[in-house]
Amino acid sequence: MSNSTLFSPFQLRGLELPNRIVVSPMGQYSADAQGRATDWHLMHLGHLAMSGSGLMFTEATAVQPEGRISPHDLGIWSDEHIEPIRRVVDFCRRHGGAKLGMQLYHAGRKGSVTVAWEGQKPISREQGGWSIWAPSAEPHAGRATPVALDDTGISRTVAAFAQAAQRADAAGFDTLEIHGAHGYLIHSFLSPLSNHRDDRYGGSRENRMRLALDVFDAIRSVWPERKPLGMRLSAVDWVPGGWSIEDSVELSTRLREHGCDFVTASSGGVSSDQLLKVHPGYQVPFAEQIRRESGIATIAVGLITEARQADEILSSGKADLVALARGMMFNPRWPWHSALELGDSVFYPKQYDRSHPSMRGGDFLKPVRES
Ligand SMILES: Cc1cc2nc3c(=O)[nH]c(=O)nc-3n(C[C@H](O)[C@H](O)[C@H](O)COP(=O)(O)O)c2cc1C
Repeated sequence: MSNSTLFSPFQLRGLELPNRIVVSPMGQYSADAQGRATDWHLMHLGHLAMSGSGLMFTEATAVQPEGRISPHDLGIWSDEHIEPIRRVVDFCRRHGGAKLGMQLYHAGRKGSVTVAWEGQKPISREQGGWSIWAPSAEPHAGRATPVALDDTGISRTVAAFAQAAQRADAAGFDTLEIHGAHGYLIHSFLSPLSNHRDDRYGGSRENRMRLALDVFDAIRSVWPERKPLGMRLSAVDWVPGGWSIEDSVELSTRLREHGCDFVTASSGGVSSDQLLKVHPGYQVPFAEQIRRESGIATIAVGLITEARQADEILSSGKADLVALARGMMFNPRWPWHSALELGDSVFYPKQYDRSHPSMRGGDFLKPVRES
């Protein structure tokens, strides 16, 4: 029995999470030139798997080569990708306590750029870049002009998401998050700022939601019944006339009806005109409204850095899970420290038992080993 909501278990379909802490997807730009996982992933995901978090997602993983942001994005577009990432999954399971999720994505019109620390500058085809795809042939600020996807391209992309999910299953992942946020392909179809089509994938909100729902249905139909499937949304575009929280509530309701298990409430990324003010928990109200009005489980994310802050978000019913990205990179022992602060137990690998303050002479909190 836990003292806090943060360290209470949570069930998603057949997956029981030992606590409510999620490692948010974090692009590492460290795959090899074919998009395969490397030793960096072993180290990065390996140490976060033993952090005590209940669930950990991989970075956004491309379902097609042209769906990458940079040439060093992680990919899952061919069977060649399964073995390298399965090595990481097995390693994390052997030594860690977190359940494991993969985030699947297609970068759309934000693709073919240099890695983050080189400024995400467009890479031309001559320099080894690739054609980028979008709902409409309109560039994201500072990026190349994309090609508008036709019906064949849309069908191929939807099929690629489903095949990627089958490979993620073969690699041993417990859950998937579809990346429908941050201005990437799915979000660029949702938003009226980037989707100016006049076919069944554009115009009305119903039509703009079609790609997100098609991708969801295609994955759900091949993803094992017992395994949860969710979607990350940009709850708002932060631009007047853009995708709104009411739109996100409607899409989340539809996703729940289609069998979706959770929505992660992120925001922004589709327009350089976004008026975004960042402060602690700045996206929590979106997770709260989506949860309350659509009835779906939500993951809150965005400047959640304190144990009591995270616990309050959960205990007051604003979200079901909390995800951390920068805070977790800065302090990969965040769940251990939070468990100590809240008087709870958490996964510790036996090799590290003696780091727990209770092993320094006191006897007030015993670390719990879950393996
Ligand atoms: C280095 C880095 C890489 C990220 N990569 C991804 C990603 O691959 N997919 C995604 O949905 N969000 C990505 N994000 C966003 C985070 O998952 C998270 O939503 C955001 O940073 C806000 O949470 P935080 O305040 O805890 O960092 C990334 C963030 C950082 C800092």
